[in-house]
Amino acid sequence: MSIIILGIESSCDDTSAAVIRDGILLSNVIASQKVHEEYGGVVPELASRAHQQNIVPVVDTAIKRAGIDKHDLSAIAFTRGPGLLGSLLVGTSFAKGLSLGLGVPIIDVNHLHGHVLSHFIRTEPDDVVPEFPYICLLISGGNSQIILVKSPSDMEVLGQTIDDAAGEAFDKCAKVMGLPYPGGPHIDRLAAEGDPKRFKFAKPHIAGLDYSFSGLKTSFLYTLRDNIKLDPDFIEKNKADLAASLQSTIIEILLDKLRKAVDMTGVKTVAIGGGVSANSGVRKAVADYCEARNLTAFIPQRTFTTDNAAMVAIAGHFKYLDGIFCNYDEAPYARVKI
Ligand code: KG4
Repeated sequence: MSIIILGIESSCDDTSAAVIRDGILLSNVIASQKVHEEYGGVVPELASRAHQQNIVPVVDTAIKRAGIDKHDLSAIAFTRGPGLLGSLLVGTSFAKGLSLGLGVPIIDVNHLHGHVLSHFIRTEPDDVVPEFPYICLLISGGNSQIILVKSPSDMEVLGQTIDDAAGEAFDKCAKVMGLPYPGGPHIDRLAAEGDPKRFKFAKPHIAGLDYSFSGLKTSFLYTLRDNIKLDPDFIEKNKADLAASLQSTIIEILLDKLRKAVDMTGVKTVAIGGGVSANSGVRKAVADYCEARNLTAFIPQRTFTTDNAAMVAIAGHFKYLDGIFCNYDEAPYARVKI
């Protein structure tokens, strides 16, 4: 009998639902929240209210698009954390209610596991998926981690940021340039037109596999401050070069530790995940490095880089195979590790 999992994601500002049958994606619906744009960041209270409005139509659409009946579901997987508590509560409560109504079990999913396992989402039966063990570079607005993935349930964090995440570095630097939130995609777009060697920004010197991005952020800020004193139009005149130089510095920092992790572990497969893995420069740098080193690279489709329920469904699928379900008295958690 087929295993059909409904995934529900509501950890931040995207309400998403997806259906996966035997590991193959049937539908993935994402409702993004525009309400935060004018505030320059996600406003938690507005996010949970928007989730409340979106969750019913989003789940309904995902089930209809999948061409299944809701009574065909084997289980409902939901993001339990980490994330914004109010947002998580909406998805968690909805999953519990629907599961009671349909008489199917619920499966709690660690959002970070979802990102790491997103490479197992197949849209076609013969899509290739990673072999264990592999290294996943998980880079988002809240995380920058190098993870050794030994199995769907056994993951070891080899290194992580000691301050800002890579996405924060993109977003905060974009903000001081006057770009809209989230700034990462704007930097990516501008960088395509700029000279990555034009400006030099500070890179961290940290032993081991940990990251740091706060020094780069300060160095970027000081470059702007010093140059604006000489020319008030400095940013406007140099925005492409600033973006390209910032992006290439972030990529150098990311790749430096990734290379070390591969050398240390001897893995043959490298994957990237999280919002920043949508960055064109990051994708190319990882693909080029893997090609040069004869490693297999897994670069996710852009839809699966940001928050989505397909990754929650596939992580739920693995837990379903292991027979690991969740009780109704389990609450969401804002913070949780891999
Ligand atoms: O994984 P995600 O959707 O949410 C979090 O868990 O944070 O990641 C969002 C982050 C933001 O910092 C955003 O600027 C960044 O991913 N991002 C990008 C790009 N697309 C999204 N950063 C650089 N280049 C992009 N193309």
